[in-house]
Amino acid sequence: MAETTEVQRGLEDVVALESRICFIDGKQGRLLYQGYDIRDLAKGATFEEVAYLLWYGRLPNAAQLAELRVRLAGLRTLPAPFAERLAAFPVSAHPMDVLRCAVSELALFEPDETRPGPSSIGGAQRLAAVIPTIVGTFHRRRMGRAPPDPRPDLSAAGYLLYALLDREPTELESRCLDVALILHADHELNASTFAARVTASTLSDLYSAITSAVGTLKGPLHGGANERVMELLAAIGSPDRAEAAVKERLAKHERIMGFGHRVYKVEDPRATILRDWSRRMGETKGDLHYFEILRAVEEVVHREKGLYPNVDLYSGSVYTLMGFPPDLFTPIFAASRVAGWTAHVLEEYDDLRLIRPTAKYVGAVDLAYTPIGGRP
Ligand code: CMC
Repeated sequence: MAETTEVQRGLEDVVALESRICFIDGKQGRLLYQGYDIRDLAKGATFEEVAYLLWYGRLPNAAQLAELRVRLAGLRTLPAPFAERLAAFPVSAHPMDVLRCAVSELALFEPDETRPGPSSIGGAQRLAAVIPTIVGTFHRRRMGRAPPDPRPDLSAAGYLLYALLDREPTELESRCLDVALILHADHELNASTFAARVTASTLSDLYSAITSAVGTLKGPLHGGANERVMELLAAIGSPDRAEAAVKERLAKHERIMGFGHRVYKVEDPRATILRDWSRRMGETKGDLHYFEILRAVEEVVHREKGLYPNVDLYSGSVYTLMGFPPDLFTPIFAASRVAGWTAHVLEEYDDLRLIRPTAKYVGAVDLAYTPIGGRP
């Protein structure tokens, strides 16, 4: 039996590996991708630029970015036999379940992209390009609409909105979604990225790693929180009811979704930027309803629990104002985080060591085996 050691529940503060991709300063509330502050990236970059940065470790020049945009746009189409399979998925399913199954099934049709190793960059770009098509095709079908066209004229953000909502994005919506995609693109060893790296560390393939990640992101303590925030806002209804509603939930020891973080001890810098966008979109659409409830909730949660908002608090309000239903919020998260997941899987393949921690055994020992006939 292993010697007894201190257990870090939830692997809190455990440093599991070295990575060059993402740095979180939880005390100062800073987040860097490959050395660049996300505040600068959210001001000036596009999602495609950030994806390039995560995959290649450096910002692209104009020609490299243009080439990536063309390549991604060329990878948006589903293989016909896979599209037939997707058309058989029940429309009652949650889009995150659809996405998890779809990534796994797509691997059956694309064996070359799935092989582990440096060539997985092709699979990384394929998945980043095709996830909006998968989710859009499913959502449009349940709305009685035709699948999206590949639309090479649209940016990743513009295509995501078009593929899902079957309409042209405005310039402001495109930029807002671009910023949201940039902010969600990576976050060090968050649970879904860790799941992807664990899968990759067994020398399993890229699509298996991303299937693990999608399933992990779905949980309400992780990416699924954004969907639950909108449920809370609907239940609260108006800013003046926030105080009582939050206190009631806290008294029952319920978690308020969109608050708290394992790493940040101050405000999540992504929440700061998304709060601003929530107000801006609210003003543009002439509807500050969600923004005002969120501000009221924020004030009570901070006063009562000392908790700060995380990235999931304001994203849903922005998506709702664009017309996305709540069950598409986490798939939108996945459409962005796939850049980070795949960058981490590539890094794992590059410096691979099986990830396999140990457990402190607290069960029984040396029990005497009794044959089945002799048991009470
Ligand atoms: N509402 C109420 N209480 C909370 C919350 C919350 N959102 N978050 C933490 N706490 C309390 C928790 O009850 C516990 O209190 P006590 O010590 O009295 O039992 C204390 O704070 C520590 O909580 P913990 O669960 O040990 O902390 P953690 O580091 O494991 O949790 C977390 C991190 C994100 C799971 C948690 O803050 C949480 O459940 N938040 C709500 C879900 C959420 O918004 N998730 C999105 C996370 S960020 C983006 C992403 O990953 O998608």
